Amino acid sequence: MSTRNKPARATTVVHGIHGHHATTLDLVPPIHLTSTFVFKNADHGAGCFAGTDEGYIYTRLGNPTLDLLGEKIASIEGAEAGLTAASGMAAVAAVAMTFCRPGDNFVACNSLYGGTFAMFNRHMRDFGVEPRLLSPADCRDGERLFAATDAKTRFLFIETPANPTLDVFDIALWARAAKKRGVPLVVDNTFPTPWLSRPLELGADIVLHSGTKYLSGHGDIIGGMLAGSKELMTRIKKDYLNNFGPTMSPFTAWLFLRGIKTLAVRMEKHCDNAEKIAAFLEKHPKVSKIWYPGLASHPDHAIAKKQMARFGAMIAFEVKGGVDAGKKLMDNVQLCTLAVSLGDCETLIQHPASMTHASYPREERLKAGITDGLIRLSVGIEDADDIIADLDETMRLL
Ligand SMILES: Cc1ncc(COP(=O)(O)O)c(C=O)c1O
Repeated sequence: MSTRNKPARATTVVHGIHGHHATTLDLVPPIHLTSTFVFKNADHGAGCFAGTDEGYIYTRLGNPTLDLLGEKIASIEGAEAGLTAASGMAAVAAVAMTFCRPGDNFVACNSLYGGTFAMFNRHMRDFGVEPRLLSPADCRDGERLFAATDAKTRFLFIETPANPTLDVFDIALWARAAKKRGVPLVVDNTFPTPWLSRPLELGADIVLHSGTKYLSGHGDIIGGMLAGSKELMTRIKKDYLNNFGPTMSPFTAWLFLRGIKTLAVRMEKHCDNAEKIAAFLEKHPKVSKIWYPGLASHPDHAIAKKQMARFGAMIAFEVKGGVDAGKKLMDNVQLCTLAVSLGDCETLIQHPASMTHASYPREERLKAGITDGLIRLSVGIEDADDIIADLDETMRLL
């Protein structure tokens, strides 16, 4: 039961953890649009750099608006501390570059967002770091998962539900493997958001986000966030973010603070719509395959039920007639919009094999379960019947 000291999560997403500004009493926090901060005197400046005095120095190293967003993501993820980065990819890079040095390895599922796959499979290899990318089947087996790690493993990484296959991985199982090896488990929580899934409560050590998606919610900004213990967040900030410099703009952070306020109501509507649309697609005679964790037919439905509050609003499906029929569908929808990204108010449709996941060599992509004909739908918050009518009328053309 919620109390004044322990508000319910719907309250936390609206209020965050700060009251109103002590002197100006703004309801909405101001944007600190400044690159640098004034020191009281030379000793104060030196003390800020040495860490012995309180005070902001320079926005790449810290800014009150960025800190507010970091605290907000920490509060809704149930973490001690949070960080911001210029994009979701900057947040992924922050983890990989903080923990790994040449000769090290890390273990992840091979079912990943295309940009993350490219960073892991190409760039981390170039830096002498070995990505051990497991098949979705191995990711469901605790013994095989642990066997993939060794003394040089620096972290474990999963997306759940994964983009775009909607595989749902058992976070507690991965957390046990990570703990046994003594390394952090990192969970990309972009698809469910903390409204539907809280990996830290299941034993994960770091949660990361492409905030660009549901946390923004309005398709107008790019940004990344991380949350976890104070110790891990300080390490990531000092060892990567401060000096590599993928800093979020304070203006972007302010827009995120605004977007997150409506996370709860948006996610509930996204989920309501997706449940209806998945049920419609599952029965449609032109649909040959559908992946949605909320359907009893989804292979990970049981684990999704256990670790998610609801099932999210991402759906993958194939239509009869393969890639050509899929293209015809994407070219002829009128309400659904042909665009990558996800989590926006608008329903977005796209073809991962040729778009978001084009970075995968075909064989690797198929191993990850991303088929040639898979179409990804990010269900928006329009009227569900209008989205269904658009898909239904377009599928008559196939
Ligand atoms: C699951 C997931 N993680 C990370 C990213 C990267 O985020 P960004 O585009 O904000 O850099 C994306 C982008 O689509 C994503 O879907």
